[in-house]
Amino acid sequence: MNVEKLLKLVDLFLGAVILGSVCAEKDVFLTKMECRNYMPELVRNVSCNLNQTSHRTGSIDAEFILTQDVENLKGIFILTLKRGSHGTNFTTLNIDYCQILSSVEKHFIPKMVTTQLRQISNFPLQCPLKMNTRYYVKEFTINSKFIPSYMPETNFISDAHLNIKNRKAFRFLIEGRFSTRLQQKYNKS
Ligand SMILES: *[C@@H]1O[C@H](CO)[C@@H](O)[C@H](O)[C@H]1NC(C)=O
Ligand SMILES: *[C@@H]1O[C@H](CO)[C@@H](O)[C@H](O)[C@H]1NC(C)=O
Ligand SMILES: *[C@@H]1O[C@H](CO)[C@@H](O)[C@H](O)[C@H]1NC(C)=O
Repeated sequence: MNVEKLLKLVDLFLGAVILGSVCAEKDVFLTKMECRNYMPELVRNVSCNLNQTSHRTGSIDAEFILTQDVENLKGIFILTLKRGSHGTNFTTLNIDYCQILSSVEKHFIPKMVTTQLRQISNFPLQCPLKMNTRYYVKEFTINSKFIPSYMPETNFISDAHLNIKNRKAFRFLIEGRFSTRLQQKYNKS
């Protein structure tokens, strides 16, 4: 995708987010998660856990300890929408994870993650992440108010790759489902 197309898409997202905050009633169910640690010498005591009883939609607990301060944390984020066995890459973002700790993001995905993390994790507001500190995220859910209203009912895979100083370090895979609350009510009645 070229840059111009991407910017147009981003624009569309922003418009939809504003509209979406008025009319979207989405639930985002989390069904599966997986953490892959490619730098066990640096990232220690990793625990990743999808708890399907703590919240109606499922929630994520994660924690880790670093053996060095980490200042350079970048990577790509891919959101894939799945219909049957077909996957479509809905969005691919290059993310500076240090930057999203501190800034107010415009794109709905980093914005949602940042807003949520500030409430339920002990991540600092800026890098570096410090060595020998137990970082945790507790009961992370996806706040549906950030999901654009045009998002179809579909299964998704959220795939976050984290690189430390350009070396593959960690990968966070989450599977779930976007569903519309209105439609659920409708189905039940
Ligand atoms: C981290 O894991 C090591 C062994 O893998 C253990 O000895 C240590 O106590 C753990 N640290 C914390 C803070 O849980
Ligand atoms: C899931 O969350 C519930 C409620 O907070 C808690 O009692 C339970 O121990 C958690 N399960 C796991 C596997 O962490
Ligand atoms: C989605 O993007 C990833 C990474 O860029 C790529 O490996 C994968 O093949 C893409 N999948 C589809 C269905 O386009």
